[in-house]
Amino acid sequence: MIELKVSVPGGTYPVKIEAGLLPRVGGLVESVHEGRRGLVVMDQNIQSPHGETLLSGFDSQWTLATDGLIATEANKKQEAVSGLHQSCLEAGLDRGSLVVGFGGGITGDVAGFAAASFLRGIALVLVPTTLLAMVDAAVGGKTGVNLPLPGGKGLGKNLAGAFWQPKAVLVDPLVLHTLPVRDLRCGLAECIKHGFIGDPGLFEFIDSNRQAILAADPAVITTLVERALRVKISVIEQDEREAGGRAALNLGHTFGHVVESVEALDLRHGEAVAIGMVAAAQCAHEIGRVGKEVVDQARDIVVSVGLPATLPSPVDVNALVAAMQFDKKTLDGQLRLVLPGQDGVDIVEDVPTEAVKAAWRTVGAGD
Ligand code: GLY
Repeated sequence: MIELKVSVPGGTYPVKIEAGLLPRVGGLVESVHEGRRGLVVMDQNIQSPHGETLLSGFDSQWTLATDGLIATEANKKQEAVSGLHQSCLEAGLDRGSLVVGFGGGITGDVAGFAAASFLRGIALVLVPTTLLAMVDAAVGGKTGVNLPLPGGKGLGKNLAGAFWQPKAVLVDPLVLHTLPVRDLRCGLAECIKHGFIGDPGLFEFIDSNRQAILAADPAVITTLVERALRVKISVIEQDEREAGGRAALNLGHTFGHVVESVEALDLRHGEAVAIGMVAAAQCAHEIGRVGKEVVDQARDIVVSVGLPATLPSPVDVNALVAAMQFDKKTLDGQLRLVLPGQDGVDIVEDVPTEAVKAAWRTVGAGD
């Protein structure tokens, strides 16, 4: 078993990665948590292939309730958290109880926010079931929901939430066998992001193991998750609450969140981030931070794993620029972008609007 340690002010906890650990989750939870009462929040999509296996590992000392979650961006909202609070009450959970989030990033965020806010905070363990959640969302303590934007302008991503670190993150790469290839690709977008931030060798690893990754080969996935998480953990250990450096993890996300919220484009988070990383690279090039080869590198790696590098249909560039103001990194109305540079990525202020527009046009925005 591979064990990584996360150590931040909000908690020190293990990330355990092993093919086939799912039936042993109960025992692994007991090594980090004393109580024996809990609520398991399961993504409804994985309830049938994997739910029984997960629950089989909790022995008869446990009193466990389960709640299915419709894990969509539209359902990632305050009402979903309120529903989980009600389930916690009905299951008699107290301050010594536990929430287990079993699913992808949406499930972890919603279950995590419920755990962070029920009785002002109870224990949380995350068992991610998508590649995206394994390499990114489940580690680092971000929890939250989307909010409807003023004027009916779609959903503002993750605008309400809390930092709430789990007691453990338990990763079983075998569950990815039932994950659609489209979702595996979405997880690869976050791995590529981690490559730009702190491990350029990941590009080579991804490129030479592309087929095995998309076939969910457990050994290759184990190495991929470990390498991608090492980058993420080193970032969050320096800045748990995104006061500075953690914003690096938003590479591609300011551009990406905007197109993800355009319903007609029907883009998943990872696909939107892939387009966003190409746009961010072009934006960095426009202002002289990187050469054209970095834009080409971003586009090549994204395309090589089957992710989109351009919008599926054109969207007005001015509407895209206007929607960027709702990004969480915006301060005093000033847009801040995470852009590649000569050595990793940086937060850049005062990016000229023309450079942002040029970046959008590179990924297919129209005038
Ligand atoms: N997924 C970005 C972060 O954890 O900060």
